[in-house]
Amino acid sequence: MAEIGKDVGKAKALLEAGKLVAVPTETVYGLAANALDTAAVTKIFVAKKRPYFDPLIVHVPDLASLDKYAKEVPSKALLLMKEFWPGPITFLLSKRNIIPDLVTSGLDRVGIRCPNHEITHSLLKLLSFPLAAPSANPFGYVSPTKPEHVNEQLGDKVDYILDGGICNIGIESTIVGFENEMPVIHRVGGLSVEKIELIVGDVLVRSQSMPNPEAPGQLQSHYAPRKPLLIGNIEQLLLENKGKRIGVLSFQKKYASDFIEKQIVLSPDGDVNVAAQKLFSALRELDGSSIEVILTERVPDFGLGRAINDRLNRASA
Ligand code: TXA
Ligand code: MG
Repeated sequence: MAEIGKDVGKAKALLEAGKLVAVPTETVYGLAANALDTAAVTKIFVAKKRPYFDPLIVHVPDLASLDKYAKEVPSKALLLMKEFWPGPITFLLSKRNIIPDLVTSGLDRVGIRCPNHEITHSLLKLLSFPLAAPSANPFGYVSPTKPEHVNEQLGDKVDYILDGGICNIGIESTIVGFENEMPVIHRVGGLSVEKIELIVGDVLVRSQSMPNPEAPGQLQSHYAPRKPLLIGNIEQLLLENKGKRIGVLSFQKKYASDFIEKQIVLSPDGDVNVAAQKLFSALRELDGSSIEVILTERVPDFGLGRAINDRLNRASA
């Protein structure tokens, strides 16, 4: 198990020595290393058992440092950064040579974001390099939203876990690229499409499940618990799964059935933001219990509800 603590100086020293540190962000915990050090970045891929064709997001402390790592920033990207950074939106931008090819899996574009979390912000400010950080979970599994989640799965592979409490958005960042100035959303996430469109007008959403995606975060099966997860009408699914030990993950309503062994309601008030924050913790809790199957339902498809449905669809694939 790794040490969990709030010592930013210790995290800094470890990262400077090429080690791995898990860091909190407003979305999920990241497994961080010096993005400019290929030996350190390699450790991320090894620890997560992540394929080398799946590129990493680079985290910067502020907009001012962007120019060191990216060039030809589209005007709409700049507008969005000024509005939403620090925050849950990642930009795919032309990379400068200083970013190793390992980080981008050989692609010309690098994913960059400025996370909105006080302790990680102070760490990034102290460092002379940006942090490459994917979500701190084994490849394909549910992302961590608490330090304990990281410790349970990667505790023997990470040198320190910086404790920032529970992530308050709880779902990974929205990823935006640009094609001839047109914003293209490659992953729906912690910043809603509606909020982005308010700033830059129409966007293209290309984040549906694909068997052969541009970004592995778009893989049909991803963000998945180990137990089978069925998505649909819960009443109907209860009938179809009679006799099994059932776990239910519902949005707002509590279901009554003798077969339900464990039930988690994401938001009794029907708030998609609350549901997003609880989603990954709830999936982990159900996955770790003695049930055999998880029954769940889609949430309203607006705001962060869209990202929740995306993750549920992938988790059930
Ligand atoms: O909220 C987040 O984005 C979290 C926190 C830690 O910042 N990070 C995260 O990283 O979710 P990860 O690696 O689990 O997911 C990043 C996704 C992957 O699907 C990857 O394929 C895609 O972003 N990606 C990263 N760089 C890319 C690039 N240059 N081109 C296309 N896709 C990229
Ligand atoms: Mg991930």
